[in-house]
Order: sequence, then C-alpha cells, then structure tokens
Amino acid sequence: EAPEAVSPTGKPTGAPASARAQSGAYLTTAQGARLYETDHSLKAGARGPVLLQDHHLREKITHFDHERIPERVVHARGAAAHGIFKGYGTAAKVTKAAFLAKDTETPVFVRFSTVLGSRGSSDTVRDTRGFATKFYTEEGTFDLVGNNIPVFFIQDAIKFPDIIHAGKPHPDREIPQAQSAHDTFWDFVTLHTEAAHHTLWNMSDRGIPRSYRMMEGFGVHTFRLVNAKGDTTLVKFHWKPKLGVHSLTWEEAQITNGMDPDFHRRDLADAIEAGAFPQWELGIQVFPDNAEQTFEGIDLLDPTNIVPEELAPVQPIGLLTLNANPTNYFAETEQVAFHPGHLVPGIDITDDPLLTGRLFSYLDTQISRLGGPNFAQLPINRTHAPVNDMLRDGMHQTAVHSGTAPYRPNSLDGGCPFLAGADNGAYIEVPVDVPAARKVREAPESFSDHFSQPRLFWLSMTPVEQEHIIAAYTFELSKCYEQAIKERALQVLANIDPQLCGQVADGLGLPAPEPTVKLADVAPSPALSQVGKVWPVE
Ligand code: HEM
Repeated sequence: EAPEAVSPTGKPTGAPASARAQSGAYLTTAQGARLYETDHSLKAGARGPVLLQDHHLREKITHFDHERIPERVVHARGAAAHGIFKGYGTAAKVTKAAFLAKDTETPVFVRFSTVLGSRGSSDTVRDTRGFATKFYTEEGTFDLVGNNIPVFFIQDAIKFPDIIHAGKPHPDREIPQAQSAHDTFWDFVTLHTEAAHHTLWNMSDRGIPRSYRMMEGFGVHTFRLVNAKGDTTLVKFHWKPKLGVHSLTWEEAQITNGMDPDFHRRDLADAIEAGAFPQWELGIQVFPDNAEQTFEGIDLLDPTNIVPEELAPVQPIGLLTLNANPTNYFAETEQVAFHPGHLVPGIDITDDPLLTGRLFSYLDTQISRLGGPNFAQLPINRTHAPVNDMLRDGMHQTAVHSGTAPYRPNSLDGGCPFLAGADNGAYIEVPVDVPAARKVREAPESFSDHFSQPRLFWLSMTPVEQEHIIAAYTFELSKCYEQAIKERALQVLANIDPQLCGQVADGLGLPAPEPTVKLADVAPSPALSQVGKVWPVE
C-alpha cells in the first residue's frame, strides 16, 4: 500500500487518496491492468512489423511525448525545499496575520531561482536570484515572492516584457545564456536609466552568490500591514540568512559553472540531506502609513529604492528553517505556482505600479504554464485552509463538486456557504483613500531620480567590493558589439560616480564622459556592504 499523501515535513499535501501516484506491487497500465512485459513491442513475429494494436506501447510513448510542460517565462531554473516558519509574535503590533503570532508554526515551501537562464542553464551565472516562499497558513496561503536584490529594474510593470526581451538570449542566435554580456541587455538598461540601481547590484558580488543558503531575500515592494485595531503601517520584508551573506569571486563562479553547473541546487539539497538546515530570519522595516507614502524623502512606491537600514532597522518577526528536500522535482519545484496576490488578513498591497502588474501576471502565466485554471488543486499548491469556492469545471479539474447551485445566495442547495466578516477571518482590503485624479500614462516626478540610490550603494561598498564591481562592468561591457551602447553605459556610470566610470572606461579603452547630472550628496550605508555581514549582528 502506498503511504498517505504527506509532504516531507509530515503535513498532508491535500492530495486525495486517489491521487497517490503508486500503489500495489505490480507494474500496471494507467488503467490498472497488470503488465507481464514492458521491454518489447507487440509484433507479428520476432522479426516482423510492430502492431498498432499494442495499447501498452501506444500509452507508454504517448504519455512520454507529453511529459514536458513549458518552462517558466522567467525564473525557469530553480531549486526548492520544504520547511517550517515560526513566528516570534513581535509583529502583532502592526499586523493581525495569525501565522506571525508567537510560536505559531507554519509549513512552507521555498523556491530559489535564477531569472534569465533556461531550465537547463548553469547555477553560478551573474544574475538576480528569486527567493519565493509559500506559507501554508491556517488563514489561506501567503506567498512572499521576492528576490535576493532589494530593488527592481523598472518602475512600472508595463515594461516587464521589454526588460525580459532585452535580457533573454538574442532572438536570432539564442545566445548568450548569461544575463548581462550582451547588447540588448545593456541597450535596455542604459536607455531606461531607472535600471541603473538594480544593474549595479547585479555587477556587485550579490550577482554571484556563494550559495542559496547565504543570500538575503527581499519583498522589494512596500506592503501595507493592518493590525487587529485596523491601524495600518507600511513595511518592507527582508530575509536575513543565519549563515551570513557570501558570494563567489568571478573566477570561482566561472570554474564552478564548468565543473558543476548544478552547484547551488546540489549545495542546498546536500546541506538539508546532511541535517545542516539553512535558516533565515524574516524581518520588517517599518514606516508610518502617511498620505505621501514616503520615508525620509524616499518614495516608498518606487521599487528602484531601498530605505537604508541605518534609517529604518530591520526588526525580526520570525524564523524560517528549511528541513526537507522535495520528493519529486516536477510535482513540487516545477509545478509550484507563487503569486504576490496570495495574501492573508493583516497583509495588503500598496499602489506600487510594478506590484499591480505582477498581481495580474502570475495567475495569467500559470494558466498557460500549468494547463488551465485548476492548478490550485495540485498537491504542492493546495492550501492547508479549508476551501469552499464556487469555481467549477475547466481543464484538469480533479475535484468532484457536489450540489447544483454554485452561486450564492441560492434557494436550492440548502447549505449555501457563509460569508465571513472581519471577526471571523475574512480578508478585507484596507479601505485606503484614492485621491481624485486625472487618468494619465505617466510616472510621478518622485520617480525621476535614477542616480542617487546607485551612488549611495556604490559609496557604501568596501574597496574590494568596488574593485569587483569595476571588473564586472568592464568584463560584461567588453562583450558588447555596439560602441554606442558602451558609451551610453559609461554615461550612466559617470552620473553615479566618476571614479567608477573612469576605471571602467580605462578598462574598455574609451574616454570617460562628464556627469550630466549633479552628483547626489548621499551618506553611505555600511549595512549595504556584504563584507563581514552576519545576522544577527551580536
Ligand atoms: C516569476 C520575483 C517582477 C512576472 C517570479 C519568481 C520570482 C519573481 C521569485 C519565481 C517564482 C517561482 O519560483 O516559481 C519577482 C520580483 C519582482 C518581479 C521580486 C519585482 C519586484 C515581475 C513583474 C512581472 C513578473 C513586474 C510581470 C509584470 C513573473 C512571471 C513569472 C515570475 C510571469 C513566472 C511565474 C510562473 O510561471 O509561475 N518572479 N518578479 N515578475 N515573475 Fe516575477
């Protein structure tokens, strides 16, 4: 008999008994008929033609022919693990989310990824890393779909197809797999200077992490929390690795790419297998929910901004421990579907225009990637809270719904599902005021400073980190064929810092341009350097 359908952490996956993949001692067809042979097709004589009537041959090959699903349009290559999240209770002042209450334990599934490579690409490339966490809370699933870099390339989701078209391999030759060493990437990030900050993080050591276990994670956007009294607060989410933040050197990354393209996924799986469970603290930076949605002059709705930790310290609210590897890569790591719109009471969104676009995109793409609208029924995506929805039918429907009236109210089904209020757990959007406004396609003026924050990052680096950044820009830009793109990249660097620009220009054998903006007068933030960075700082 097959064991119960449980996740490696021992929690029921939600899969009904009929969804058990394997049971019984005999090899069977998909219909349960026992097989006596599976290595030879049915033939008219041992040397004769194969017969079309061989239903086992047809079933076996047909199923194989359809084994692949489309890879994710971004973040195709990933590795994941199960774990437990334990709340500290310290967030109770700002959010009513039950899973953050003191000592509450919630099962989680975390998927780390690169962004631009295909599913079979290498792990140690220079790229942003995804850090997506699914919390199976009793109030429904909460997904924190973040990255290892706290800012994003663009300020408005309408440009997402453009930055990804620019970052993916060229459409003619499908090279290169590496993120940055090509003309279209540099073309985009120099024409859209809002990308300067994220690009600078990519060119720093953060772009080549030593291990998934040694990366920070960031929710990037500002979220709105609401507590039991209805008070609201703006926050940014941070994951802090207990092992500290560490990177590879460029040479190590290159050698590792060749010697072991699976370096990061092997490292994660081996560590968990050996009982060295990686841990992260979840923390929040907290800001008052003021009408401007700014903090110390920083626009909190602009996802190309950080708030330095010296201005708003990260306050720990819980502990994540990854303690079990997936049983099956396809069923779990490949089929998991994260979505920034999976929220629980106590956590709400803000009007960050990048986040709004994401709220549409993930569900939309998963309908095609996972073959229809019913992927929430897949064991890895199944919520651990009771489900009583009125969604019906569709491709790959596996639930057998009862009743005749999937609408409410109705006078036919007797037990029409109740509607909850706030006091019995309903998710109620925070009733924020939306000021009267004119419909426009434009960004606010506060989104127009593209260089102060990159300068802040650059000035916060130690000399060795700065050396690595210069080497990375020089190497990546030297791969561009178009001279004009290199020159435009140098102009961006000149607007960040003349020393950075001058050294990269020397490396490229080009003149260093003068800045076209007034250099920002910013104070460095030592917390941005990863040298000697461990957490918590004792
Ligand atoms: C996938 C993070 C912006 C569309 C992902 C994944 C992560 C992530 C971690 C991988 C999830 C997994 O492991 O399955 C982020 C962050 C963003 C961002 C932190 C900005 C702050 C966007 C935007 C869009 C977008 C602006 C579109 C408008 C997608 C899509 C996928 C994806 C379509 C594939 C989802 C799937 O196939 O399941 N993103 N992303 N992302 N992201 Fe984003």
